[in-house]
Amino acid sequence: MPTTAETIARLDHIARPFMVHLPPQMATHVYSSGRNVFLSALASEKPAPQHVPEEHRRTLWGLHFRAGLLNAAGMFKNGESYDVAFRQGAGGYLAGTTTAHPRTGNTRNGITKPFAPYPRSRAASNWLGLPNDGHAAVAKRLAAFERHEDFPIGASLMTAPESSGKAALEELVKGMRLYAEARVDFLEINESCPNVAHGSSSLEAITERLEYISIEFLRKRSDALPVVVKFSTDTAKADVEPLLRILCTLGFDGVNFGNTSINYAVHRTALHSDEQALFDYFTQTFGGGVSGEPLRASSLDLVRFANDILRQNPPSQEFHIIRTGGVASQLDMEESFSAGASLCQWYTGYFERFAEDGHRLYARLWA
Ligand SMILES: Cc1cc2nc3c(=O)[nH]c(=O)nc-3n(C[C@H](O)[C@H](O)[C@H](O)COP(=O)(O)O)c2cc1C
Repeated sequence: MPTTAETIARLDHIARPFMVHLPPQMATHVYSSGRNVFLSALASEKPAPQHVPEEHRRTLWGLHFRAGLLNAAGMFKNGESYDVAFRQGAGGYLAGTTTAHPRTGNTRNGITKPFAPYPRSRAASNWLGLPNDGHAAVAKRLAAFERHEDFPIGASLMTAPESSGKAALEELVKGMRLYAEARVDFLEINESCPNVAHGSSSLEAITERLEYISIEFLRKRSDALPVVVKFSTDTAKADVEPLLRILCTLGFDGVNFGNTSINYAVHRTALHSDEQALFDYFTQTFGGGVSGEPLRASSLDLVRFANDILRQNPPSQEFHIIRTGGVASQLDMEESFSAGASLCQWYTGYFERFAEDGHRLYARLWA
């Protein structure tokens, strides 16, 4: 008997290809609010626990992930669905992205937390604007979780868009400490959200922010809480080597490629023609980040490129590459690991697979 979330996802899967023919503003409206209904149904469910075969286990920084795939940041922003993810058979769990102050997210043209799917292209756009309950509330929630073995918990954080300079960094580090006290297993710093202003993305500005985190957090860590930094899948190849050098020198533990893309002109041409009108409306009205299949090649390419650099200049610490962007199948995972990724995260692909396989989505991948 399908659960409520499975039923919503299946009906939506059937309706989606037709829904994108609605006037674009209406389609965006429907999906932006419909997403919230689906996510709350998902969070309230208690699916049957799925077995994860031993061979999928991966160990990073001494943490045992029972599989190499988990949700990407932004899916369970406030620490929802922890037990759901465990029962479904995910390799671990990532909460956030959170900011210092609670945020309600973006609204424009009467649409709150704008989101649009492009089902035929296996892609989506979002301009959510980091809605979240704030570091303190989410850290408190994570601290209360009944922990599962071999199922590490991560937390994603970012500097608050409404703060700037040193104050923003102080708040970020305070948030990192709250998560450390909540005994999360790893942290991910989001350096790449296209939907809010959060400081300059020049190499110089990124270096300054990372230096601050290194001095105020990494060097003061009493226990080995790994910290990775997530960059955009739009990251220029020329920036990969300097970024890795900075991360390794400053004592970070990994990198994630990556976040959504704003390379609209390139992605538009790859979209199914039926979905280009919705894409044009969305990108011209909100901008936002593109996710899913259009990122598959660039995320893999960045992982391979970064891995080659790290092989030539091995860091002195244990350093891992995480791949996010367009991952949707067992083959994508195999390619990721061959290219040098230690772990994969998924977002758009998760919802696509959930529509087909429901709560057994991870189990089907492992089959
Ligand atoms: C609706 C939505 C919200 C997102 N929110 C966040 C976020 O809060 N923090 C973050 O680091 N990434 C966020 N992302 C980006 C995803 O974590 C992921 O990096 C991106 O979607 C590429 O992966 P995918 O192709 O599997 O979707 C969001 C993506 C989507 C679609």
